[in-house]
Amino acid sequence: MAITGQSAAEIVDSVRAEVRNGALEPGQALPPVRELAARLGVNRNTVAAAYKRLVVVGVAETRGRLGTLIREPAAPGPREGAAPDSPLMDLASGNPDSRWLPDPRVLASALSGQPRLYGEPPVSPRLAALAKRWFQDAHCPDPVLSVTHGAVDAIERLLGAHLVSADPVAVEDPCFLSSINTLRLLDLRPMGVPVDGEGMTVDGLRQALASGARAVLCTPRAHNPTGCNLSAGRAAALRDVLAEYPDVLVIEDDHFAPLSRAAYQPLASSRSRHWALVRSVSKCFGPDLRLALMLSDEDSARRLGLRLASGTTWVSHLLQDMVACCLESRTVMARVIEAAADYQRRRDNLSRVLREHGLCPWDGDGLNLWVPLPGPAAPVTAALARRGWLVRDDRPFRLADGDGALRVTISELEPETARRFSEDLARVLAAG
Ligand SMILES: Cc1ncc(COP(=O)(O)O)c(C=O)c1O
Repeated sequence: MAITGQSAAEIVDSVRAEVRNGALEPGQALPPVRELAARLGVNRNTVAAAYKRLVVVGVAETRGRLGTLIREPAAPGPREGAAPDSPLMDLASGNPDSRWLPDPRVLASALSGQPRLYGEPPVSPRLAALAKRWFQDAHCPDPVLSVTHGAVDAIERLLGAHLVSADPVAVEDPCFLSSINTLRLLDLRPMGVPVDGEGMTVDGLRQALASGARAVLCTPRAHNPTGCNLSAGRAAALRDVLAEYPDVLVIEDDHFAPLSRAAYQPLASSRSRHWALVRSVSKCFGPDLRLALMLSDEDSARRLGLRLASGTTWVSHLLQDMVACCLESRTVMARVIEAAADYQRRRDNLSRVLREHGLCPWDGDGLNLWVPLPGPAAPVTAALARRGWLVRDDRPFRLADGDGALRVTISELEPETARRFSEDLARVLAAG
């Protein structure tokens, strides 16, 4: 191995190059600090700083007496989605109920017969006009509208456009799986901010910002996995903290917007220079439409546009027309309101029966219910699986250790199934 460099940054680059060209493999140890420092003729602190950075960016890991080892390359972690081959009753998918989503054939039949060519405006004027109503509760200064391939795409492009490798990002802990994956794949450093029933905690955010967070990623409603909604008071307090950090990018992932029972509470401060409010259509019109609308400051929209340049990678106007068709359709929008009430009913029902069994699920919104447990969740999910239930435990959502909890998807949960599940969970917990 031919590690070179006179500064920590050069050593980091050199190790990365060695990993890329295969000279350093996962599991292989880096030379001891003292040895490499002597070989390169640099101070030991320089090598130690380089190794520390390699750990932070996920290239290496420290393993006690074994020293600093090259890590396996980052692989995407678990994702949302059904488990079609599982014989278990799937309460883990995070999916909406497809019966509430518009029929794609109806949407396709409303498409215009005119093929679009290179050079179209990236945002269709028809969709832009409809977006005004969609965002009427958001009072952002000088907003610019963009269209992306869903919320996760918007978040990835925004972070990629504003941040560089190893930058810290404040995110809720526990956190949405795709956000954890996005940060990992972009080589960014998640800084967990604890959440309680009212959203991100003020002290947690203050601490993350004081420790250098360059961006904040927050779910103002139906936080996934806990379901909590940002309260008005909490949002105001968080905005006050953010006002002291006007250069921090603020991304609001308002994925449940039209289905939520809570009012939208903005997080970005009026002093925030870079901010984005992202509203995906995945939950209300279907995840396969792969589309989100985004309001942001002009510079963020421009940077995002550079990465989604018209003429090469705009979001298909066929999709934009289909979403416009949904927003224009009274029938579709009436179904969204019905779906919202249905999800709330299912959520409230499961919550009620679990409470009857002495459990204390979180209040809130969304397609999932968060059920704190008296101990670790892994044995509980295993015991539930033996009784035929598939649910997620808290661990994949966590950035730091936390108390055990289950995430139960409620979108298709019938009252009778909720009753049986609650009884089984109570039995599993009673059996210890
Ligand atoms: C917090 C959160 N954000 C966004 C999304 C949707 O992302 P996308 O628009 O990329 O489908 C989900 C879906 O589960 C979610 O839970």
